[in-house]
Amino acid sequence: MIHARGVAKVYENGTQALQEIDLQVAAGELVYVVGASGAGKTTLLKLLLGMEKPTAGELEVAGISLGKAQAEDIRRLRRLTGAVFQDFKLIPGRTALENVALSLRVLGVPWSENRQRSLAVLEEVGLADRVGSMVQTLSWGERQRVALARAVVREPRLLLADEPTGNLDATSVGFVAAVLARAGEKGITRVVATHDTRLLEMLPGRVLLLEGGRLHQVAGAGRKDRQ
Ligand SMILES: Nc1ncnc2c1ncn2[C@@H]1O[C@H](COP(=O)(O)OP(=O)(O)OP(=O)(O)O)[C@@H](O)[C@H]1O
Ligand SMILES: [Mg+2]
Repeated sequence: MIHARGVAKVYENGTQALQEIDLQVAAGELVYVVGASGAGKTTLLKLLLGMEKPTAGELEVAGISLGKAQAEDIRRLRRLTGAVFQDFKLIPGRTALENVALSLRVLGVPWSENRQRSLAVLEEVGLADRVGSMVQTLSWGERQRVALARAVVREPRLLLADEPTGNLDATSVGFVAAVLARAGEKGITRVVATHDTRLLEMLPGRVLLLEGGRLHQVAGAGRKDRQ
């Protein structure tokens, strides 16, 4: 699903956010990216979503080569991908249900099916009693879970999540772990940036450490030590 070889990202101001990234992620795999603040985790997720372009190396996601991707390739990648970023990007003035349902509405899913699937996912993230609440009235941790529900409801091929449990108590981390596990059962590839050892313990996966923009594997079955 993901093939990276010698990938680097230098931002316009000269910041080298990533260097010499070699990474292979198979379809259906769960990969955690850990590392200190500023290590490059969000940058890596943005490259995988085509929001930023690599400045060196080869990066291919779902068969789409991102170094030379055209706008149409990026749109195709976005349709295959569900993403939750640190600022959630929910639509204010709409309910939790409406925010999640929008993800299926743009795909033309009929309302009765849309409503059923959206409610089921909101229930999975522990928000069954908040579906009718305006998102701006929700707590930060509740908004975070609405954003995760919106990303998974379409059953994308690739799920990218940036610190999906940053604001959550242990019970809610359990909901997130369950959603990620269920996504795995559906064959969804998952790349999750996290500092949260609770999540890593609840749902083990391959762990990659970013240090100063370089990637090292620290745990996970059957892979070589340095990716
Ligand atoms: N748009 C940008 N322009 C210039 N530099 C940037 C930009 N975005 C990020 N950086 C820099 O790139 C480096 C990696 O940032 P990134 O946001 O990827 O880190 P992170 O691992 O996600 O950190 P955190 O845990 O705080 O979210 C940092 O030095 C950051 O200052
Ligand atoms: Mg970040």
